[in-house]
Amino acid sequence: MATQSHKTLEVPALASLGPVTPEEARLLEVLDLQRLPRHLAVIMDGNGRWAQKRHLPRIAGHRAGTQTARTTIETCARLHLEALTLYAFSVENWRRPKAEIDFLMQLLREYLRQEMPLIQKNNIRMRFLGRLDELPAGVQNDVRDSMEKTAGNQGMVLCVALNYGGRAEIVDAVNAILAAERKSLAASAARPVTEEELSRHLYTDGLPDPDLLIRTSGEMRVSNFLLWQIAYAEILVTETLWPDFNRTRLLEALVEFQKRERRYGGIREGGSAEPKPARVAGE
Ligand code: FPP
Repeated sequence: MATQSHKTLEVPALASLGPVTPEEARLLEVLDLQRLPRHLAVIMDGNGRWAQKRHLPRIAGHRAGTQTARTTIETCARLHLEALTLYAFSVENWRRPKAEIDFLMQLLREYLRQEMPLIQKNNIRMRFLGRLDELPAGVQNDVRDSMEKTAGNQGMVLCVALNYGGRAEIVDAVNAILAAERKSLAASAARPVTEEELSRHLYTDGLPDPDLLIRTSGEMRVSNFLLWQIAYAEILVTETLWPDFNRTRLLEALVEFQKRERRYGGIREGGSAEPKPARVAGE
């Protein structure tokens, strides 16, 4: 996270990040800006534990988590990632106590309203992944509003996974293909569905598949997140709880990703082969 203390430094090539700490400056020295992930996906876990450790209610952890979301979004946009996807609410999260669900929905609405200037300033286009029609009406309005307001932006695509499930997404894609097929004149001619066609019907249509998936707070699970899209993603699990996942931790994760990329597919350090590019639905 940027601090304003005398310990901060300016890194000219990355002026858009603002003042950085000495630790961040060291990380930025080794980070290859040409080989960043095109699409970073994040499972933001550990808000509850963060709050528990401080004898605070769980919702205090969620509120602290929004600050981390802000830093992550801004940093990724300024590093010119193509896409960032944050797992904000899963189809399984409806099993939580109603008061926590209500708080999360309220927090998201508040967040979208408060952060719109930051989103616009960073030229970010917003998308939401999930069964949006099952969300409370007020949330649906805000979601629509955020997409409309940012539709013309040309920078990073920020996807918020909301009432999202990976299996539900694949089922929705298959049903969309079947519905289109029923409408088409060629409906009688049975034909195989291809991977590309299925990709085009996922919520992430048009985006590159994530090449890095970060999960905070140590759980070694994928939790029904982007099941199709993470087929080739590097997975990085950190013990850091989401509210503590500051900009330094994010830069560390990007440096770690680049170390792994160098080993990808057995390519040797210094080898001439190009890193494998992320796949894009429909490409
Ligand atoms: C997981 O922590 C976190 C969530 C289910 C909610 C994530 C939401 C936010 C960080 C709010 C802001 C996000 C956006 C995009 C506005 P947990 O409650 O499962 O933590 P635990 O495993 O320690 O209990």
